[in-house]
Amino acid sequence: MAHNTTKMNKQTRVFKITSSNLSEVIRECADIIQRGGTVAIPTETVYGLGANALDPIAVNRIFYAKGRPADNPLIVHVASVQQLEELVLEIPPKALSLIEAFWPGPLTLILKRKGIVPDITTGGLDTVAVRMPSDIVARELIRVAGKPIAAPSANISGRPSPTNAAHVLYDLDGKIDAVIDAGNTCIGVESTVIDMSGEKPAILRPGYVSAKKIEEIIGEVEIGYNNHLTDPPGIVRSPGMKYTHYSPSATVMLLEGTQDHVSNKIREMYAELTCKGDRVGLLVTDMALSSLTNDIVYLGAKDEPEEVARNLFLGLRALDEKGVNIILADGSFTHEGVGTAVMNRLRKASEMIIQL
Ligand code: TXA
Ligand code: MG
Repeated sequence: MAHNTTKMNKQTRVFKITSSNLSEVIRECADIIQRGGTVAIPTETVYGLGANALDPIAVNRIFYAKGRPADNPLIVHVASVQQLEELVLEIPPKALSLIEAFWPGPLTLILKRKGIVPDITTGGLDTVAVRMPSDIVARELIRVAGKPIAAPSANISGRPSPTNAAHVLYDLDGKIDAVIDAGNTCIGVESTVIDMSGEKPAILRPGYVSAKKIEEIIGEVEIGYNNHLTDPPGIVRSPGMKYTHYSPSATVMLLEGTQDHVSNKIREMYAELTCKGDRVGLLVTDMALSSLTNDIVYLGAKDEPEEVARNLFLGLRALDEKGVNIILADGSFTHEGVGTAVMNRLRKASEMIIQL
């Protein structure tokens, strides 16, 4: 089938993976990739919008579908270290140690790129971000297509990242050629991004692989991302107001502090805001708050950051679909491990952070 590349609205094909059709789906989707099309693919972190990373016209379709600013570079996904070697000038020893420890998996390395990687893929930078996903569907697609696949999260720019095919279709139906539906992703937040191209390794985005685990392998790393917080308790207006990230349509207000303080403040704010006529949704770790409203999503236990990570983007989107205009988000869960990444995403999604 010749797929449509000129009209704005295309028919997005949905390939649902079953116990028997994996290789058939992979073959069809590899064909779309080879012909310069876009396929949303499951990975262990979030769904990505994939295209041939070495084909500038294909990569341009990703930017166009997402409405992504051209200076924001993409992550290139590979299925082997040999494929990585084709993209980068060198793999420094510490980068190799990280690859041995964490690939395939949710760790993205920034390395100096070769000329084969088009400018559009890297936003004109002389580096390229690369990771090898652990998800079998993603890796098989890359292997069968025989191309490295550029894939940013498969959402409209600024919205929460998608953790299932329904989220992808909600944002991108009619704008991409296909989506592979393999159910919910198992991690729920994006990969850790570490810059290995300079003198000192620097974490540019926290993710599933924590700084602590990375330091166990390569020693000290710099933290190269902004936490958007001031030290003393108070109200912080997020820079998310300038650049929106991970944002549902509703306004997110994040409450940080101990569970007791946060739960009490949520009750108080819920009462005040609903009294003024707002429809308020709750994203919480305290089950006891379910007496307040049905517009509530339970993130998980506050000492189980992996559970909270899986439910974060899912919860933001679910509350949006209920039609709330304000979301009170409970930030009292542990900030250890992947909790650091979850807090980073929640802070960026929030228009207001209240520290108690
Ligand atoms: O888990 C993930 O990483 C998901 C799945 C689909 O693999 N992908 C993802 O891609 O989150 P995206 O495009 O939403 O985020 C890529 C991040 C952006 O913050 C981008 O600025 C950064 O990586 N990045 C990409 N290339 C870079 C480079 N050469 N230098 C610095 N940052 C880079
Ligand atoms: Mg993204």
